Amino acid sequence: MRVLLIDDDPEILDLLSSFLEMKGYEVDTAETGKDGLSLFSAGKYSLVISDYMLPDIDGLQASRQILSIDEDALIILITGHGSIESAVSAIKAGVFDYILKPFDLDQIEVAIHKAEKVTALKAENVKLRQVIAQSEGADNMIGRSRSMKELKRLIRRVAVTQATVLVTGESGTGKELVAQAIHRASPRAKGPFIPVNCGAIPDNLLEDELFGHKKGAFTDAIADRIGRFEQAEGGSIFLDEIGNMSLALQAKLLRVLQERIVSPLGGDESRPVDVRVIAATNLFLADEIRKGRFREDLYYRLNVIPIHIPPLRERTDDIPQLIDFFNHRFSGLMGFPEIRFSSKAMKCIFEYSWPGNIRQLENFVERMIVLQPEGHLVQPEDLPSDIHLGSTDNLDSYVFEGRIDLKAKLTEMERSYIEQALALSGGTRSEAARLLGLKRTTLIQKMKKLGIGDKVPEEK
Ligand SMILES: Nc1ncnc2c1ncn2[C@@H]1O[C@H](COP(=O)(O)OP(=O)(O)OP(=O)(O)O)[C@@H](O)[C@H]1O
Ligand SMILES: [Mg+2]
Repeated sequence: MRVLLIDDDPEILDLLSSFLEMKGYEVDTAETGKDGLSLFSAGKYSLVISDYMLPDIDGLQASRQILSIDEDALIILITGHGSIESAVSAIKAGVFDYILKPFDLDQIEVAIHKAEKVTALKAENVKLRQVIAQSEGADNMIGRSRSMKELKRLIRRVAVTQATVLVTGESGTGKELVAQAIHRASPRAKGPFIPVNCGAIPDNLLEDELFGHKKGAFTDAIADRIGRFEQAEGGSIFLDEIGNMSLALQAKLLRVLQERIVSPLGGDESRPVDVRVIAATNLFLADEIRKGRFREDLYYRLNVIPIHIPPLRERTDDIPQLIDFFNHRFSGLMGFPEIRFSSKAMKCIFEYSWPGNIRQLENFVERMIVLQPEGHLVQPEDLPSDIHLGSTDNLDSYVFEGRIDLKAKLTEMERSYIEQALALSGGTRSEAARLLGLKRTTLIQKMKKLGIGDKVPEEK
C-alpha cells in the first residue's frame, strides 16, 4: 500500500513516515497542497493523509481536487479543534475520515486499517460488477447455436485484451450489440462506451465529431469542442460503418491508432488518448481495398481481432429462442398477449432467408403482436407474403410436398392486381383494363367472378 503524507510540519512528516514505513507501507511526502496534488496525480496512492491547515490551500480544497482526480481516493485529514466543522464538511465532500490533534500513532493505525478494509471491499465490488456485467452482456445476446456460443466465447476472450476489434456481419446481425458486450466485459466497463456512426455523418463533420476543434478553428467554432475520442477516454469508442469513411479521414484515423494521440482541428497541440477501438462494417473490406476505397494499412490496424457474426439464415437454431425473447419484450411493453405460431407458420419462418437478420425478425414479431387478433394461432397465410412464399426454393418445396393450391394462389394474385389497377385508375374500368393488358369486358367478367365490382363505383 502506497501512502501520501501532506503536512507543512517537517517533524510530523518525519514521525508519521517512519512509523508507516516501519509498518511496511511505502510513503511519499509533500509539504504543500500544491506539491501533494502533483504527486497524487502522477502516482497511484491507496491512501492520502493530510493536515487540514496547509500553507497554500486548506484540507477541504485539497481533498476536493484529489477526489476530482480519483473519486475513489481515500483521504484522512488531521485537524485541530478549531477546524472540526470544516472536517465534517470535508467528510460530506467524500473524505474518508479525520483525526483530531493531538493524535497518537495508534489512532493513525486504526484509521489506516479501516481504509485498507474499504479498499479491499471496493476491489471486490469492482470484480463482482465485472462478473455481473459479463453475465448480463451474455444474457441479452440471445442464441445457443454453435456459432453463437463460439461468438460469446470470443467476446469474453477479446474483452480482457486491449486489442482493436473489427466486427463484421450483414445488416441487423447484432454488430453494435457485440461491441457493447465487449466493452461491458472488459476492464474498461466503468468507462464510457461512445458509438459513432461513421456512415451517417458527412465527412467534414465527422472529423470534427471524432477529434473535436479549438475555438476559432472555423467560422462557427465559437468554443472548444471535445471530440468523441476524448469523450471515450478510459473507455471504448465504437466506429460503426467504418467502411464508409472517406480516404482522407481514414488516413487521420490511422495516425490516431498508431500514435494514440488526437489533434483537434485548428490547434497544433496533440493530446494523448487512452481508448479502446471497436469498429464495425457490413461491407466486405477486402473488396473495398481492391477498389481503392479503403486503406489496406488501416484495415490491418483495425482487424487485429476479427469477429464475424453469421447471418440469421445460417443459425436458424436460434430463431425459436429469439422469437421467445422478442415476444416477451414486446408483449410486456405493449400489454398484449404473446404471439403464437402454428407449426406450419414456424416452418415458413425457418425457411425464410431473413435478409435483414435479427432486426427484421425483431420488427416482424412486434408487428405480428400488434396486428394479429389476440389469442389467434398464426397460420402461414397470416404471415407477410415474402415470408409466407419465401424464396422460389420455398415454393418448390411446397409443390414437392403437395402443399400448394395453385388455383387459390392465382386467384389471390389476380384479385390483388385488379384491386391495385382499379385503385390507380380511380375506379375507371377501361383505364384499369389497359394497365392490366386486358380487354375491358374481360376485366368486368373477372371482377364479377371475384366479387370486386360491388365496392367500385360505376363510371359515368
Ligand atoms: N443475439 C441477439 N439477441 C438479441 N437481440 C439481438 C441479437 N442480435 C441483435 N439483436 C437486436 O437486433 C437489432 C439489430 O442489432 P444491431 O443494431 O446490433 O445490428 P447491426 O449489425 O449493428 O445492424 P446494422 O448493420 O443495420 O447497423 C437490435 O435491436 C439488437 O438489440
Ligand atoms: Mg449497427
